[in-house]
This record gives sequence, structure tokens and C-alpha cells, in this order.
Amino acid sequence: MLRYCILLAALVAIALGEADHDTFKDCSRIEFCTALRKNVIDSSAQFFADLGELEETDEKVTIPLSNENGDSLILQISLLPFSRARIQVLQPGNDRYELVDVLDGEPETIPFSSVNLANNTLTLIPEGEEYSIVVNRGAPFTVEFYLERELQTIFDGSRLLMENTEDSQAFTFGVSFNDAQRLYGLYHHASKLGLRETGDDYDPFRLRNLDVSFYELDSPMALYGSVPVLYGHSVSHTSGIFIHNAAEQWVDINYGEDSASTYFMIGGGSLDIFVLFGPEPKDVVRQYTSLTGTAHLPQIWTLGYHQCRFTYETQEEVKEVVALFDVHDIPLDVIWLDDGHSNANRYFEFNPENFTNPEEMFNNISSTGRRAVSISDPHIKIADDYNVYTGAKNKYFVKWENGSDFEGICWPGLSSWIDFLNPEASEYYSGWYAFDKFNGSTETLAGIWNDMNEPSVFDNSLEKTFPHELLHYGNVRHRDVHGIYGMLQTKATYHGLMKRDEGKKRPFILTRSHFAGSQRYAAMWTGDNTAGWGYLAISFSECMTSNILGIVFCGADIGGFFDTPDDELLQRWYQGAVWLPFFRGHSNKGTPRREPYVFSEDVQTVISNAIKLRYKHIPVLYTLFYEHATTGDPIIRPLFYEYHELLDYDNHLLAGTDILAVGVFESNATSVEVTFPGKASALWYRIDDESWESHNGEEVVPIPVTIDTSPVFYRGGSIISRKDIKRPSTTQMVDDPYTLYINLDSEQSASGRLYVDDYTSFAYREEELFLYIRFIYVLDVHAVQIEYLGGNAAEFSILVRSIIVNGRSPEGRIISNTYTTTRDGLPLESINIGKLIVYTSERNFKKVFGKKEICWVA
Ligand SMILES: *[C@@H]1O[C@H](CO)[C@@H](O)[C@H](O)[C@H]1NC(C)=O
Ligand SMILES: *[C@@H]1O[C@H](CO)[C@@H](O)[C@H](O)[C@H]1NC(C)=O
Ligand SMILES: *[C@@H]1O[C@H](CO)[C@@H](O)[C@H](O)[C@H]1NC(C)=O
Ligand SMILES: *[C@@H]1O[C@H](CO)[C@@H](O)[C@H](O)[C@H]1NC(C)=O
Ligand SMILES: *[C@@H]1O[C@H](CO)[C@@H](O)[C@H](O)[C@H]1NC(C)=O
Ligand SMILES: *[C@@H]1O[C@H](CO)[C@@H](O)[C@H](O)[C@H]1NC(C)=O
Repeated sequence: MLRYCILLAALVAIALGEADHDTFKDCSRIEFCTALRKNVIDSSAQFFADLGELEETDEKVTIPLSNENGDSLILQISLLPFSRARIQVLQPGNDRYELVDVLDGEPETIPFSSVNLANNTLTLIPEGEEYSIVVNRGAPFTVEFYLERELQTIFDGSRLLMENTEDSQAFTFGVSFNDAQRLYGLYHHASKLGLRETGDDYDPFRLRNLDVSFYELDSPMALYGSVPVLYGHSVSHTSGIFIHNAAEQWVDINYGEDSASTYFMIGGGSLDIFVLFGPEPKDVVRQYTSLTGTAHLPQIWTLGYHQCRFTYETQEEVKEVVALFDVHDIPLDVIWLDDGHSNANRYFEFNPENFTNPEEMFNNISSTGRRAVSISDPHIKIADDYNVYTGAKNKYFVKWENGSDFEGICWPGLSSWIDFLNPEASEYYSGWYAFDKFNGSTETLAGIWNDMNEPSVFDNSLEKTFPHELLHYGNVRHRDVHGIYGMLQTKATYHGLMKRDEGKKRPFILTRSHFAGSQRYAAMWTGDNTAGWGYLAISFSECMTSNILGIVFCGADIGGFFDTPDDELLQRWYQGAVWLPFFRGHSNKGTPRREPYVFSEDVQTVISNAIKLRYKHIPVLYTLFYEHATTGDPIIRPLFYEYHELLDYDNHLLAGTDILAVGVFESNATSVEVTFPGKASALWYRIDDESWESHNGEEVVPIPVTIDTSPVFYRGGSIISRKDIKRPSTTQMVDDPYTLYINLDSEQSASGRLYVDDYTSFAYREEELFLYIRFIYVLDVHAVQIEYLGGNAAEFSILVRSIIVNGRSPEGRIISNTYTTTRDGLPLESINIGKLIVYTSERNFKKVFGKKEICWVA
């Protein structure tokens, strides 16, 4: 009976096509948010910092906080290297939960070089760093964070309040960002890059991982994941904070004349904040990812095109879809197995009616170099003949307060949920990915999709998720760890795939729910979006935001999950999605089929060209992934990240530093206004229409488009390494030669980096088995020099087929010359093709390429 009601509710929501505001609450319906949002703390409750009582231990300073009401707290400050600090407010004698699963290792602290106490002010100066911290006594106390004597951020004690009753451990505090013109972060919201001001008519931004169907644009409603990070940005400096807490959060934002202030209301856990001093966007991003980690390099096939649908129903259908991509000559790397492949959502069991011979299906898929990914959600169907359930019953599930397994409804009906906080439960779950337990799976099932892991529970009275009071291993209240449930599932899946593949392959996992640090385990997509122009547009903003918050492997369902895009929207969507790191088409049950080959020849050509453009740039994306893995830098970037004054360009996207893509997000567009970044001397070359037409920085011009074109530009000064030969998938591209696009700047110079490795294993980080080089164009001799940047090169060869030089002569003439090799295996020190010479110094050449592994092919 219950199940029917829930299905009915889902159908109603589908008919309405908007988020269900009865189910998903606003601040006025959340007790602690309503109580605390307007709360003005009177003077007797405001804390002062008892600076005379400060203690210095283990590279930490602790200072008692007291107020006239007799409450006492402890302020604890740790100084960290690399322009970071940590500030905690502890509540003596309480049992506040301290998060343990999020940081990528406990950050190292550094000693104070001086602790200065004068005039009710304490100044902390770390050794070997440019920052300082000032604590003002108050009441209310404040903590100021300076970089090179510039005030960056202020922890505002006037709004500090910590409840500690049976029912509530909610707390509040304020942080302001000096001079900030924009605040960025607080993922996941379907918001523009710059977060808007909240107030009476706009709720605080909410972070609580929830399964919101038909999510709305520009809304502060919570979505699938939480990354409680904020960057305050101005043209002159950027700083940030990371709230190390996984409970529900509500955040008010107010932009003042000379600062942006924020007010946090948090439902549980501890007050623990990392302060990131910047001063530039790339610094705060690196400072943040140094705390929560970076993504490992993906296997190369994960950067190709993925085809999904809810749901392919039979193994025959799956094979047919793959075959039709070949019939229509459209590249494809991955076919996705949504719910239909499973035995009525009993994961790790194939559908006994329609997927009777998975091995045969997987062999068929791999025969053309493709791979499969299957869905595996965290709900486990309650059934006595289901081994995954019986092995976990009364042991490994999340529990009610009375100790019995929590039970709720999800896709399979009545289910329980693995408690991933329990190490044994996680290991148990990981074990099911083994080939001899996941019967029917083979190597071709190369990745796993963890969906519904907020977790989603079909009970509207619970906002479709776990109730706060459930208990995890170690008596941890669910309230305090809600944000990391999905991340811990991906962590267990990650270990499952590592074990299954004996550590020889980099796991690929896609997750819907995520938290700060999820990048260490999984790629993420923006969830169940809708087929509308606004959703195409917001996919750029969403993925650029997640990219500067460490979760770089981001994409959005091409075409929109709910509803059906018209042909124009779908074509524009593919053209835009080329530039998002994760590239997958997906659609809901009941919608018309949408694989690229079902469309008319014209539409198919546009989509197919977009997919091919993506494949040509996979070497660029792969190189950026390597650079992310080693530095934390985003793959895709908003303009302000590189050009600090360009603030609100949600439709402009930089892939690395060298590719500018501008989305076409309107119907019937005949042109798109493009702002070319950089100084007036900067040059940008248009590539999507192959005109190589150049534009200068500072230009703001309408760029004409047809349905075949969507503006993309290469930066003058870059060398882009592409693989231009059309292939069915990345599998056939491994040994392909490169085409180098040399895009001269106004000084006639250019350079670019290229990274290659075995595309599969962790040897790149365990044995430095990779090749990382820089191509440098040398004007005097009209040649390309190759510089070694890192790695053990001997394993890898790089073939170059042709070189295209784009430039603008001093008189403004566009030059575009193509040099193509005519012979193989010429000695590289002085290859002469047409008039272009490629060389590398003798010494470097030996070091980099061993003997003769770089060669030219016709
Ligand atoms: C303390 O404050 C007084 C009065 O404002 C000022 O004259 C003095 O220089 C201050 N001392 C220090 C060490 O900052
Ligand atoms: C794979 O399946 C497709 C569709 O059924 C079929 O046309 C094709 O011949 C199969 N390929 C192999 C190698 O079995
Ligand atoms: C098997 O596939 C058919 C469609 O071909 C579908 O109608 C049926 O519901 C599927 N059965 C199961 C058990 O998934
Ligand atoms: C434990 O609590 C849940 C929720 O209140 C209830 O449904 C269940 O029956 C209880 N179990 C026992 C053994 O009392
Ligand atoms: C797969 O088969 C093995 C051996 O028959 C069995 O132990 C295991 O439980 C099966 N897996 C599932 C998910 O039922
Ligand atoms: C686009 O053009 C078509 C056909 O001319 C028209 O029906 C449609 O309303 C236009 N859309 C917009 C948004 O102008």
C-alpha cells in the first residue's frame, strides 16, 4: 500500500515539473534556522577572549572565552603552513561530534614565531609565513586574519552562540570577507557563480544532501551534495574558509560596501574552520585542495562520450545501442546500465529475465573497445534470499536509536542501508564488487555509478532522507554526519574496485551525493536536471563552481534528465558539454529515445561533430587532470580565476588557461557576445568554424554563430596537442599521432604542455611512469623545442603527424600554415618539414625520449 502512495506522489511531481516545496523545507520550517536566523545576541551573552589565560601547547594556542552569563568556551587556533590556519571553538564537557573522514590526512601545524599580547590584542605570527592572526578581546571578541598586513577575513564573535541541550547542538557564527565583491562556493546549488545576497525574500543557502526532483534554478534550496567552502573575491585579493562540519547548514550572505559578511547556522557537530589566506583564486583553491585532496588521474576512456538512459531494459538493447553508434560513425566509450540491468534493484545480481547472459553482453561491448558502467545504490532490499542483505542484517546497517536496523522504502521496496561509518560494514560492502561475488560482472564492467546516496528514502515526511536521530557505528548521530554518507559509499566502492582490480586500475565511480573531499573517490554529476535552456546554462556555472572546490570531474546530463529537449537545445547542449570534464547523455524513463543516432542527418551531424571535437581535445583534458592531481588546480575555470576583474561571466568557460568556450544558451541565436580576456595585446583564435580569425583581449564583440558553430578560441601563446584522427573510441586512439596547434601571441611566441602515461594504472604516481613535456615555439629558427618537465620517459613515445601554426602578422594578416610529415622516423634533433624544424637538445632528448621514441608519421 505504502509503495503505491509513494509512486503516486512521484507521478504528481513529474506532472507539475517543479520542486516539491511541501517536502523540502525552507528556513521557516526548520526549528534551529527559524530560531537562530534573526537572533540578536544580547551583550550579556557575548563572549570576550580572556587573553591573559592563553595557553600554548603542541603548536596550538587556546584562549578561554567567557560571557557575563557564566558560559565558557575555548577558542583554539592552529597555524598551518602554506597560508592556512585553523580555528576551532570547543565547548568543554560536551559530546560534539568531530568529523574524521573528510580531510586528506591531518594537516601539519607550524610553530608560532611570536605571540604578542598588548592592549587587549593578541597577535600570532607563524614561522616562515606571510600571514598573521589578531585576536581582539571584546566582548564580543573577533579574530582577524591578515596576509602581508592586509586584512582578509574576520571571524565575528558577536554572532557566536552554541546550544547544547538534549535536542539541539546547533550553533552560529559570522565570518566577513574584507573588500570582497563576490562570494563563491557553497556547492551544491543550481546558482550562478557569484552567490546572491540572502534576506527576507531569499532564504539562506542550505546545505543538506537531499534528492530533490525538478530542482529549481537560482534557488537556495539544498541539493544532492555539500561543499561548505566560501571564497571571498575582489580584484585585488581572494581568501576563503572551509567549514569542517557535515551537519545541516544554513548560510546568510550580505554584501556591504567594503566587505561581504556571512552568517552560519549549523545543526550539529563542531565549530571547526580552516582559513585560506589566498591571495589569488589559484592560491585559495590550492590551499583548499591541500586539505581535502585531489582527484587521481582518470583512466582515459572515462573522458570519452558516455551514453546512458533510465533504463536500457535488455542486454540485446544495450548491444544494439553500442552497435548503432558504429553504424552512424559516432564515437562512444561507455554504455551505462541503469536499474534495468539489476534484479529489481537487488544490486550485484543481474536481471534474471532480460540480462541472462551478462558475460556475452560484456564481450560484445568490449569487442569494439567499449566499456560499461552499472548503477549500484546504497539501499539494500530486505529479502531473505538476497545474500547482500542477509550478510549485513542486524550487523552492518544504519540503526534506529533502539538498535534495530533502520528500514525505509526506496526503489527495491523495503530496504536497509549499509552503515559506511562502520569499517567492517564498508569492507563487507566493498567485497561484493569482486568478480566472484558480483556474478556476471567482467572487466568490461569498468566503472560503478553510486546514485540515490544522499541517501534517498521515499518518505516525504523526512525530506526524502534519513531522520536525524538514526545511529551509526560508534553511536554517532546521523545528524552530525549526514553530509558524508554518500561520500563514504563512494569510498567503499573505490576500495571494492581497487581490490577487484588488484590495484592495477584507477577506479571510475560516478556519484550523485558528495561532500568536500569526494574528489578523492569519484566523479560527480549535477543530478536530475531538466531539459530547458536555463539548465544548460547553469551546468557551466555548476561545474565551474565544483571545479574551484576540488570536485573537478563534473558533468551534467546532456539534454536534461526530466522532459525532452527540442533538437536545437539538444545540439547546443552537446556543443557546450564538450567542455565539461564528464561527458554523458542521459534521459528519464518514458521520454522519447535520445541517442545521437535517432535524429535527422543534419542534427546528427552537429551532435557527432561536437562529440568528435571532444575526442580531439582528450589529450588536453588528460594533461589538465594530471596537473590537477599534482596541484589541485581546476580543469575548467571561470574567467575571474585567471582574470580577476572579470566577475560575472557564467557562459564563458576556460579549459585550463588556453581554451575559451562560450556557451550558446539561447534559442535562435545568430550571435553570442564574447568578452575576450587579457590585455589588449592578447590574442584569441577562433577554432569552431576553423576560420582561425583572431580577436584581441579587452574586445567585447558579438561573434556570429550558426547551428553548426559554438564559439571556441585558443589563446595566443598556447600550443594545443590534439589527436585529430577520428576513431570509434579512445581504445583505438592510444597510439595515434598528435597534431600540434601553435597559436602565436603578439610577440610570435607560444608554448604548451603535454602529459602521457599508460592511461590505466597508478604507475604514474607509484613509479613516475609518465612523460610530461613542454613544446616551445622558437621564432628565430621557426622551430619547436621540446622541454622535459618530468617522469620516466623511456616507456612512452609521442608521434606527431602535423603542425598547424596560427598567427597574426604585424600588419594584422592572419597566418595559418600546416606542416605535415611525409616520412617516418626522421632524427628529431633537426627535423625539417616544409619550413618548420622540430628539435630538442641532445642532452634533453636522450633524457626524455631514450633513443628514438619520438618520430614523425605521414
Ligand atoms: C596601546 O594603546 C595606546 C592607546 O591607544 C597606544 O598609545 C599604545 O601605543 C598601544 N600600545 C601598543 C603596544 O600597541
Ligand atoms: C554485438 O551485438 C550486436 C547487436 O546485437 C551485433 O550486431 C554484433 O554482431 C555483436 N558483435 C559481436 C562481436 O558479437
Ligand atoms: C524485460 O524487458 C521488457 C521489455 O523488453 C520489459 O517489458 C520487462 O518489464 C522486463 N522485465 C524485467 C524483469 O525487467
Ligand atoms: C525501534 O524503533 C523503530 C522506530 O521507532 C520501530 O519501528 C521499531 O519497531 C523499534 N524496534 C524495536 C525492536 O523496538
Ligand atoms: C554469486 O555466486 C556465488 C557462488 O554461487 C555466491 O556465493 C554469491 O552470493 C553470489 N552473489 C550474489 C550477489 O548473490
Ligand atoms: C525561434 O524560431 C522559431 C522558428 O522561427 C520560433 O518558432 C521560436 O519562437 C523562436 N524562439 C525564440 C525563443 O525566439
